[in-house]
Amino acid sequence: MKTPSAFYKPLAIGAPAPFRELPLSLERMIHFVPPHVEKMRAKVPDLIEKVDVVLGNLEDAIPADAKTDARRGFIQMATENDFGATGLWTRVNCLNSPWFLDDLLEIVPAVGDKLDVVMLPKVEGAWDIHYLDQLLAQLEARAGISKPIMIHAILETAEGVKNVEQIAAASPRMHGMSLGPADLAASRGMKTTRVGGGHPDYMVLSDEAEGVTRTAFQQDLWHYTVGKMVDACLSYGLKPFYGPFGDFSDDAACESQFRNAFLMGCLGAWTLHPKQIEIAKRVFSPDPGEVSFAKKILDAMPDGTGAVMIDGKMQDDATWKQAKVIVDLAKLVSSKDASLAEIYNL
Ligand code: GLV
Ligand code: MG
Repeated sequence: MKTPSAFYKPLAIGAPAPFRELPLSLERMIHFVPPHVEKMRAKVPDLIEKVDVVLGNLEDAIPADAKTDARRGFIQMATENDFGATGLWTRVNCLNSPWFLDDLLEIVPAVGDKLDVVMLPKVEGAWDIHYLDQLLAQLEARAGISKPIMIHAILETAEGVKNVEQIAAASPRMHGMSLGPADLAASRGMKTTRVGGGHPDYMVLSDEAEGVTRTAFQQDLWHYTVGKMVDACLSYGLKPFYGPFGDFSDDAACESQFRNAFLMGCLGAWTLHPKQIEIAKRVFSPDPGEVSFAKKILDAMPDGTGAVMIDGKMQDDATWKQAKVIVDLAKLVSSKDASLAEIYNL
């Protein structure tokens, strides 16, 4: 274990010091772009206006023979566009792949000064983060980069879920984590071919009773993992995210999965199809009714202590904190989204 004073020291001479607190940024959707496809790269300027984070995907879903083109395409899209307040991330290939090292060796010197976050797949434990942390520091130092590049881990192996707390604590470079339900299902031996979402066979059956028709209630397969990830992230000041939802024909199920994650503490989700952008925006921006009620609580308890009744509901120091989570998020959303700013009226 490092001493507290060593924890925040740059890992290479000349590398920027890591953030002590995460930069305040809105990340309701992390939109995946396949950078080897020219037609998709051409849409990036439009995406920058529409989404909170643009991510160039180099890992799964990119064919092996297109890996180099994807990496070069990412460098091109990062160079050619001004991202403003929109985040620029990349998902690199996993650590044991033949592409990871060149992903980092080519991307950081070329566009490291514009890159906010490296998403690292299939993270198993703190050792994976330590390796990327050190490598990033060396590359940042050599390229003269002044803003530290953050690391976002995908939680998508049984080993990773087991070690989630150590992963969260591994480095001040950690930004957050996303649930990767497809790889995680495979790693755990779960019997589903779906990418996220529920499963019709995962349910609880009501008790048998005379004259009563038994009812089945479908359960959320991801509840346990999302809860574990949220606790690990929030206890270390990191951001938790739901990952991909693969059934593009079922927007209602996508919305419901995103909403469960939002209610449990997640701040955003991946969007793999353009129509998921609006879903994520709707779900991960707080409900205007909730915002106005939360505002009432804050107004009624200016110093955040005591107990008051509002609309027949008891409020105290704890609900004041709940209200603050919602109002703070609404303020962040308002800073980017003029139409919601008008509705929230904060
Ligand atoms: C995402 O990478 C997943 O495996 O679900
Ligand atoms: Mg995966």
